[in-house]
Amino acid sequence: MTLIQEKTLASKVRGDFPILTQKVNGKPLIYLDNAATSQKPLAVLNAWRDYYEQYNANVHRGAHTLSAKATDAYEGARDKVAAFINAASRQEIVYTRNATEAINLVAYSWGLSNLQAGDEIILSVMEHHSNLVPWQMIAQKTGVVLKFVELTDTNEFDLEQFKTLVSHKTKLVSIVHVSNTLGCINPVKEICDIAHSFGAKVLIDACQSVPHMIIDVQAMDCDWLVASGHKMCAPTGIGFLYGKLDLLREMPPFFGGGEMIADVFLEYSTYADLPHKFEAGTPAIGEAIALGAAIDYLSNIGMAQIHACEADLTAYLF
Ligand SMILES: Cc1ncc(COP(=O)(O)O)c(C=O)c1O
Repeated sequence: MTLIQEKTLASKVRGDFPILTQKVNGKPLIYLDNAATSQKPLAVLNAWRDYYEQYNANVHRGAHTLSAKATDAYEGARDKVAAFINAASRQEIVYTRNATEAINLVAYSWGLSNLQAGDEIILSVMEHHSNLVPWQMIAQKTGVVLKFVELTDTNEFDLEQFKTLVSHKTKLVSIVHVSNTLGCINPVKEICDIAHSFGAKVLIDACQSVPHMIIDVQAMDCDWLVASGHKMCAPTGIGFLYGKLDLLREMPPFFGGGEMIADVFLEYSTYADLPHKFEAGTPAIGEAIALGAAIDYLSNIGMAQIHACEADLTAYLF
């Protein structure tokens, strides 16, 4: 992109964010903390507000117009998430509160039923606490050993050292796609290929990549991928887990309660189909609908465009 094109895009985008019209400490607000949480464009705020103002109702169960409308919008947003990351099926998208909850879901559901003492999990030293602490807890429960990929001299993922760590003992590789502290983009496709050649599963923490670049889970071939809505222009309280269909089918539910059941008896219950098996209780309906609006907003600008613009901005810094 040329500088003029970038300036035009930037001023158009800036105008979409009501919070940026204010002054803070006497100066126009310039917000740079998007990695922690992004601001919300008007289209997202409107989608959220419309739900609560126009058709607030519970989903999946109501035999009335508002519930049908809420269900359509809530499930429609799931279709948008699936398309956004090129999932093979909408059943592969599980709504969660955030990425942290999505990682815990995999850790407790898949981890506790598949890992045993002596197995190994590979993480990297650049993981966010949300992709470290759940695995420490699983290691304490199962006796699994945690191994860590170090950084190269240029503060990047050390792929060569990773190759020396991975073995047939490795059951899981759980790695951040774009580091929230270093900004480096990790070679996730290569990591998936190497891990799979040893029979290990791969979880990708895509919190800092989904809002900034095109994500194609089928091309990447990861087994799970997690992200938080609030880092991609959506509200807090909504995130998602992508998982390959067969894998999600094998995994037991994480939380139990309403919405995730097929039949309930006093002694036992049967579980709903994917993805609802993993979505116990009344979900964050307005927030999921607003996540759909955030995906529309990002897609309308274009993820390739967003990525190119950010790459140019980074280049100005160096
Ligand atoms: C790379 C990365 N992973 C995971 C998280 C956790 O996100 P959340 O707190 O929304 O679950 C963050 C948040 O900063 C992050 O940057």
